[in-house]
Amino acid sequence: MSKLALLGGQKTIVRDANSPKKGGNPESFEDAFARYVDAKYALPVSSGQTALNAALAAAGVGPGDEVIVVSFTWLASVSCVLHNNAIPIFVDIDDETFTMDPKDVKRKITERTKVILPVDIYGHPAPVVELKQIAEKNNLVLVEDAAQATGAQINGEMVGSVAHITTFSFAGKPLSSSSGGVLTTNSQEFYERAALAGQHPSMLSQIVTTPELRKYVATGGYGDNHRPDGHALTLAYENLKTMDENTDARIENANFLTSELSKIPGITPPYVKPEVRHVYHMYTCLYDENHFGVPRDKFVAALNAEGVTTWTYIDGANYVFESDGTPCHVGPLHHRTIYQELDLYGKGCPFQCPHGMTPKYEIGSLPVTEQVTKQEFNFLQHDLTSPNDLDMMKRYMEAIHKVIDNINELRK
Ligand SMILES: Cc1ncc(COP(=O)(O)O)c(C=O)c1O
Repeated sequence: MSKLALLGGQKTIVRDANSPKKGGNPESFEDAFARYVDAKYALPVSSGQTALNAALAAAGVGPGDEVIVVSFTWLASVSCVLHNNAIPIFVDIDDETFTMDPKDVKRKITERTKVILPVDIYGHPAPVVELKQIAEKNNLVLVEDAAQATGAQINGEMVGSVAHITTFSFAGKPLSSSSGGVLTTNSQEFYERAALAGQHPSMLSQIVTTPELRKYVATGGYGDNHRPDGHALTLAYENLKTMDENTDARIENANFLTSELSKIPGITPPYVKPEVRHVYHMYTCLYDENHFGVPRDKFVAALNAEGVTTWTYIDGANYVFESDGTPCHVGPLHHRTIYQELDLYGKGCPFQCPHGMTPKYEIGSLPVTEQVTKQEFNFLQHDLTSPNDLDMMKRYMEAIHKVIDNINELRK
């Protein structure tokens, strides 16, 4: 009878000790991503939405708390606040970069504010250095929604290393994969608490080392499921290797479009702050309807008919339709039903929470947001990314000039 392996005998099955760590990669995605953005911790999750949910849970956001957010964004940047049963307080954007306006933030901080949540909309970083100072002065947490901005930089620092917590998404974004997202932070406490929001107990056993948090490991933390898909992480790991090269080529295309479009009266190409690297998840222009005498949607439809894919993002006209297929204009988030009804669960929660103040989201209360929503139109990341090169950008310009040369036809 051979001796038991447990007692020093020979193993029955010997596996290859040198097999790669995860998904065939020599290091884990989280290590590679943390290194890429220069953050201490990276926590892969199932989406940009769950990264935000986890970030707010890590910051301790709960009933009655206020989170300062923008209305000029994708749904998830605000629905994460509702997910944590807290109250979104909308602030305006600046009229050049369309990111959170720090002056309006200062006006809207109250004793119930817990988090400031700016969005790097279209891939242009929000002013997180200034917002972090405001947050720290007021004992708040800065959570940056960088879903659209992987690879962006401010003063040479990577987005993902500046805010207290930063969240990313992979679904069709600058770092693209089939699904998934990731959260980064330099704080061990935020990292462990974010993991507790939705990771499997086996992961939590490895991640959570703080004694007062370990008692939550066995219940899977707070019980949500933010587990990422392993194949999606493998793909994200591969795409991370070529992302900067692709982004640089996209920036070159964007710079060409900007130099050409700035010669056209009535179209304002995107402004980029000198200290940032804008990664152009979308290339966003403002359209002056008064100048052209043609509604923006008709102009955008004419471009699309010429083969230049453009859409109006915040207004939703590219993804919300009536049952007969007519595009809807849903406006910035504070215009939409949930925020106008203030009654998410049919009982007034979380807006009419006895722990907090009931907000009122007035139409017209965010003038820059509302104006830019009416004027913006976007080229998509994909259409500025390889194999689309400068020759293709020249063809886009050809099509734009064709539409403008025929603008009288559209006025009829
Ligand atoms: C600004 C912003 N935040 C959050 C998200 C949510 O990411 P996901 O779709 O991966 O949940 C998105 C997705 O488009 C986004 O654009």
